[in-house]
Amino acid sequence: MDFIVKDAGDGDRAWILEKIRDWGADFVVTRGRRVYAAELSAFIAQEANSKRVGLLTYEIIGDQCEVVTLDAFVQFSGIGTALMKEAERAARDAGCRRLWLITTNDNIDAIRFYQRRGMTIAAIHIGAVAYSRKLKPSIPEVAANGIPLRDEIEFEMML
Ligand SMILES: CC(C)(COP(=O)(O)OP(=O)(O)OC[C@H]1O[C@@H](n2cnc3c(N)ncnc32)[C@H](O)[C@@H]1OP(=O)(O)O)[C@@H](O)C(=O)NCCC(=O)NCCS
Repeated sequence: MDFIVKDAGDGDRAWILEKIRDWGADFVVTRGRRVYAAELSAFIAQEANSKRVGLLTYEIIGDQCEVVTLDAFVQFSGIGTALMKEAERAARDAGCRRLWLITTNDNIDAIRFYQRRGMTIAAIHIGAVAYSRKLKPSIPEVAANGIPLRDEIEFEMML
């Protein structure tokens, strides 16, 4: 599959917000914090016909870069890998010491994906999704694969 990865521009903002809203609200919750991901820096994977096929939003605070959201709208075609590479490059360029992110215990594809991309588990925040759900009631009790959403898994890569 042919695509390029670009920095998100003003013309991408409405689409980004739509994609964030597909997850149930204008914001995501990470480590007990509402983050309005559509306002963050972002990378977009785009096909030659301009169709957007992937989105990664990230936030740099101090010397840490958090990947706040990552979506490959066509799975298993290298889009997630390409977007993560760009996030790593952006974090290094900004002088970050650590790239990190949160996923949840149900997300088997992501847990495999991040470990295969060189990230390691830094922490498991047991039961943290219950608090996230208070901030974002649209978070389901059970994922589509039948696993109850319960724990936040923090992945990291030291840069
Ligand atoms: C997790 C996610 C971002 C990965 O992106 P992707 O573009 O599908 O990933 P890539 O194509 O770059 O790499 C896919 C890997 O899965 C493997 N793969 C292929 N078919 C697979 C399958 N049926 N099941 C699981 N893995 C598979 C590929 O071989 C590759 O692994 P490897 O190179 O380590 O062997 C993507 O699946 C996604 O968007 N998921 C839904 C949203 C989500 O959960 N985001 C993460 C939130 S924290």
